[in-house]
Amino acid sequence: MSWRNRSLRRRLAFWIIVPLAFVSLFLLLDVRENSRRAANEVFDRVLLGSALAIAERVVIDGDEIVVDVPYVALEMLTSAAQDRVFYQVSKSDRQFITGYSDLPNIPDHLVVAGDQPVFYDAEYKGSQVRVGAVSRFLSSSRLSTRVTIKVAETVGARNALIGELIRDAALRLSLIIIVAAMIVWFGLSRGLKPLETLEQAINRRNREDLRPIEHEVPYEVRNLVASINQLMERLARSIGAMQRFTANAAHQLRTPMAAIKTQTELALKENDPAETQKTLAHLHESAEQTTRLINQLMSLSRAAPTEGGPQGEEFDIRALCVNVTREMVPAALARNIDLGFEGSDEPIPLKGDRTLFEELVKNLIDNTLSYCPSGTRSSVRLFNGSGEVILEVEDDGPGIPAEERERVFERFYRSDASSAPGCGLGLSIVREIARSHDGDAIIVPRSEPGGTLVRVSLAQSVEAS
Ligand SMILES: Nc1ncnc2c1ncn2[C@@H]1O[C@H](COP(=O)(O)OP(=O)(O)OP(=O)(O)O)[C@@H](O)[C@H]1O
Ligand SMILES: [Mg+2]
Repeated sequence: MSWRNRSLRRRLAFWIIVPLAFVSLFLLLDVRENSRRAANEVFDRVLLGSALAIAERVVIDGDEIVVDVPYVALEMLTSAAQDRVFYQVSKSDRQFITGYSDLPNIPDHLVVAGDQPVFYDAEYKGSQVRVGAVSRFLSSSRLSTRVTIKVAETVGARNALIGELIRDAALRLSLIIIVAAMIVWFGLSRGLKPLETLEQAINRRNREDLRPIEHEVPYEVRNLVASINQLMERLARSIGAMQRFTANAAHQLRTPMAAIKTQTELALKENDPAETQKTLAHLHESAEQTTRLINQLMSLSRAAPTEGGPQGEEFDIRALCVNVTREMVPAALARNIDLGFEGSDEPIPLKGDRTLFEELVKNLIDNTLSYCPSGTRSSVRLFNGSGEVILEVEDDGPGIPAEERERVFERFYRSDASSAPGCGLGLSIVREIARSHDGDAIIVPRSEPGGTLVRVSLAQSVEAS
């Protein structure tokens, strides 16, 4: 888990502060540009004032151009203590008249159009300077020419102003970011308060309490709480089913165990060997019933669906059915029941747990042998449906009443009319195995009266060869 997933607060802070920091950075760049423009506008105006003041004092005296520089004009500029000021008066063809002869020339791309002033940045005497230039046309009867007046000023004051404006903006933006971070931090604590209350309420519950959560929660977590409630409902249902099952199993085990206890007590007290023999036979029967119950319970636990779907390899279910049927033929013969297998001779591949399928078929045949009277018929049939394998076990015994066709699949359910000993788990095991292999088991109503037809359908993920 990354740090962002671990804390909602950090996650939110990240998504608010980082974009805000980026926006602030762009704003700062914008502020710098605007400050530069504003500072230039103000300072250029003063620069122009000085240049114009000098221009006023450029006159033609006979054949010569005379300049009487008004120092007050330059003083206008030097008010910015740390800056230095330079000037130059020249004829338009760059012929120096007075001032600093080496002041940087007007760049070629800035053409002085008429009397319009121009401003440009340059470097002079190792310092950055801003130069303002105006041009004037002078004329007398003997001479007419254009003079250009340049006034340059180092940019210390300008940069100081720009720096100050940027610092101010940076301070404000930092303040916004800090306040945003604080809002996220404290706001989230407040926002998460209902969840904290919910947590405390859940913690106060006792372990068995799986009632739905009915606390008032923010809209955003309502779906989460609804999902938790559904989970709790399912959990309560499965815990209930498990408790009922354990209670039933214990109850079922208690009956034969109580019989075993009584019968052993009787056998111990009995002196007549014939009577002892009889009691021992009962004892054996009870022990067998207990063993059967334990075996069925184990089958049921094995049949429970495993995570990740049915496990096991591909096998031939036809061969398996034939073998199990064959194994049970002697028991059928002993009861005078005609047990047989019907189906194709071709192998039918199926993927799943082989032992569980043996259990399934055994349980179905066992039922026909247990509940059908002597002289009846019982068939095991297997065929391919569309994408599924169908296994049917049919007999012409007493049948199962329509109202019990679903109930017989319930755990421990036994029909009142059950003639043979059993624990009521056989058909639940069959259905559980079928369902854990993407199939199902049902009792199909028959057209003729009486008899039972159990149909198990199994999804065939393997193509029949
Ligand atoms: N072929 C059948 N003919 C008539 N009744 C049947 C048949 N198969 C099942 N039943 C009825 O369905 C009930 C449930 O059968 P199930 O196999 O689940 O339990 P059981 O046979 O009683 O016990 P066991 O767990 O030992 O198999 C039986 O008690 C019986 O009444
Ligand atoms: Mg049974």
